[in-house]
Amino acid sequence: WWDHVAPAAKDPINGVTEAFLADPSPFKINLGVGAYRDDKGRPVVLQCVREAEAKIAGSEFLESISASVSTKMVEESVKLVYGKDSDVVKEGRSAGVQALSGTGACRLFAEFQRRFHPESHIYFPDPTWSNHHNIWRDAQIPERTYHYYDPDSKSLDFAALMDDIKNAPDSSFFLFHPSAHNPTGVDPTEEQWREISYQFKVKGHFPFFDMAYQGFASGDLDKDAQAIRIFLEDEHLIGCAQSYAKSMGLYGHRVGCLSILCVDSKQAAAIRSQIQQIARAMYGSPPVHGILLVETILSDPNLKSLWIDEVKIMADRIQRKRTTLRQNLEKLGSSLNWEHITNQLGMFCFSGLTPYQVDRLAKEFHIYMTQDGRISMAGVTTGNVNYLANAIHEVTRS
Ligand code: LMR
Repeated sequence: WWDHVAPAAKDPINGVTEAFLADPSPFKINLGVGAYRDDKGRPVVLQCVREAEAKIAGSEFLESISASVSTKMVEESVKLVYGKDSDVVKEGRSAGVQALSGTGACRLFAEFQRRFHPESHIYFPDPTWSNHHNIWRDAQIPERTYHYYDPDSKSLDFAALMDDIKNAPDSSFFLFHPSAHNPTGVDPTEEQWREISYQFKVKGHFPFFDMAYQGFASGDLDKDAQAIRIFLEDEHLIGCAQSYAKSMGLYGHRVGCLSILCVDSKQAAAIRSQIQQIARAMYGSPPVHGILLVETILSDPNLKSLWIDEVKIMADRIQRKRTTLRQNLEKLGSSLNWEHITNQLGMFCFSGLTPYQVDRLAKEFHIYMTQDGRISMAGVTTGNVNYLANAIHEVTRS
């Protein structure tokens, strides 16, 4: 039955974790997966999560809930992206469902897109998170790319991006990272988002936002939702995937939300029911525990404000490590320009290291990152930043 099955290609991100775990060196550093770590390199359980756990202890339903039960979590998630006073919530015109983290939300959307726009494509930024390719491929939606990152300036190629938006067929689907772009750490400015949104109106394109790192770009949850709010002001119908994997440190719980803005509450009810039907056939309903944690944090003002503070602490720690890494490379006398380390935002630094240099870092220094040179800054700590800077300097000196 299965003789024709060959092993699948290694996942570019999970494969890094596997290689790291297999390395016995005490000096090893994992800069692969984009999950938050504290300054000792340990995964973090946020205080707001601990307090929410204490609050829900014993009150949890252990029976699985149907896809529609956690309306509170969905409502609070929708407020988080569209704004707490947004009319979208009051008018009930967002079709939201809880999803298995950002990946699950994207997967539900891709399936929904295929069912109701079977001839459509999806435009991804070049580059984008590696799993986007898998998700839309499995939903049988062909992908196209739009210009995004300019490797020479290590910043946004805005002119080329705008040309691609203009040249795409009318009513195309585009995926955006609203803040803390993965893998490049390069985001459009407010003014540039306004121009993109305007051009989307002209072309009638559909914007789908994958919000996986809300709070990590600026330390401020509202500021990081600015791109989406601009599109909202311009009255676009928007799709949005949200993840609590990084912002609440709940990677293992797979908690997220998919929302699609609709013209009215009647359309929202129809779309919600279709997405729920897709989820029902794929995995039934999501596990309850993580959803209750998120719901508890978002609907309790004290826990929510504790969470807002903790997001800022995480974002600030990463920002400080960017500064130290850059300073250390400069102190070592590197002849290369490392300004992009501090110019880029969020969890990732798109270092510019070549696949050969990335391999040398793994083999000679036990430092692991994805082949495209993406550094998960969350893995950089006070204890390893000197060692990392020395190693990068060694593999990049001519
Ligand atoms: C990443 O890009 O490392 C994160 O989004 C984690 C993941 O699941 O790939």
